[in-house]
Amino acid sequence: QGPLRVALLGCGVVGSEVARLLTQQSADLASRVGAPLELVGIAVRDASAPRPLAASVDRSLLTEDAEGLVARADIVIEVMGGIEPARTLLLRAIESGAAVVTANKALLAEDGPTLYKAADTAGVDIYFEAAVAGAIPIVRPVRESLAGDSVRRILGIVNGTTNYVLDQMASTGMSFDDAVKQAQDLGYAEADPTADVEGFDAAAKAAILASLAFHTRVSLEDVAREGITRITADDVAWAAQTGHVIKLLAIAESVTGDDGAHGVSVRVHPALVPLTHPLAGVRGAFNAVFVEADAAGELMFYGRGAGGAPTASAVLGDVVSAARHRVLGGKGPEESTYAALPILPASTA
Ligand code: NDP
Ligand code: HSE
Repeated sequence: QGPLRVALLGCGVVGSEVARLLTQQSADLASRVGAPLELVGIAVRDASAPRPLAASVDRSLLTEDAEGLVARADIVIEVMGGIEPARTLLLRAIESGAAVVTANKALLAEDGPTLYKAADTAGVDIYFEAAVAGAIPIVRPVRESLAGDSVRRILGIVNGTTNYVLDQMASTGMSFDDAVKQAQDLGYAEADPTADVEGFDAAAKAAILASLAFHTRVSLEDVAREGITRITADDVAWAAQTGHVIKLLAIAESVTGDDGAHGVSVRVHPALVPLTHPLAGVRGAFNAVFVEADAAGELMFYGRGAGGAPTASAVLGDVVSAARHRVLGGKGPEESTYAALPILPASTA
């Protein structure tokens, strides 16, 4: 088996770690896949800009020609973020027969079905484990392991930045603005941290999880959303005095509306969590997701929800899955596994 050509779109917080792992672990990856993975290029906006790339990564791979790079790849990894040109590049990759791996929850929540359908039509894999809760394996368990069960509720902390900010405010008395700045410096925040603190990022992740868990299509607009920008130091202190901690929660649950219609409701908002609850102990940029299913009962997933290396771990897992399919045959889950379930307003929950 000849090498599989891997194109990397983006070389920021996540992409630089993906490039490092692809090069430093190339021998191990080749033995796990059954073929070498050859990193053929890394698309960036500015190839001449200084960037903290590991010494093992060949800087001559950097290119500003993302389209040209996509055209010569077997597997395309998208970690550039944003809607365009990410969407167009992924569609080009899929149409050319490449498998795609993306960490882009904003794009998936806005227009995931277009990408899933294109991948089904082309018969290629689309994987996105890194799009929800960083390193935590949660997409695959919900999408595949629980596909034979009936999920009732998903409840979780799915944004590392806001959890870090709330935790710093509560544990050190740090100001909101300083904590956001730290989260940016640590590589947790989105390019525009408004997406984190206003709850858009958590809402995108909630939409993705709800779509998978309830076998329907939930988009960002379907998610009732409130961020943490109105949380004050006084709120945080009052919560502590009363035996609580404030957490930004994402909740997706099976509901019955006022008219008896069965559906799903999805919401993101700050909540008072009792200190005795396991979610209260989720510190820093860690995430945790509870899943309640009919037969499985309660499941809990916990780990690093943001940051370059943890996210790159999830990306590489997807790359190995897609690469194995190239070598051995087979394909990941398909769009056709979805049916329509009404999205009900969160207030009916
Ligand atoms: P960064 O902003 O650090 O990196 C983005 C990279 O993409 C940069 O290298 C940038 O190039 C490149 N890029 C952006 N736009 C273009 C374009 N139009 N053409 C070519 N290259 C482009 O982002 P992150 O690494 O933090 O995040 C990347 C993706 O991963 C996002 O979708 C994010 O939501 C997701 N994600 C991030 C996590 C995290 O903890 N940071 C965790 C989970 C998912 P240049 O360097 O030249 O500017
Ligand atoms: N900005 C995101 C967060 C990155 O803070 O959770 C991980 O998806």
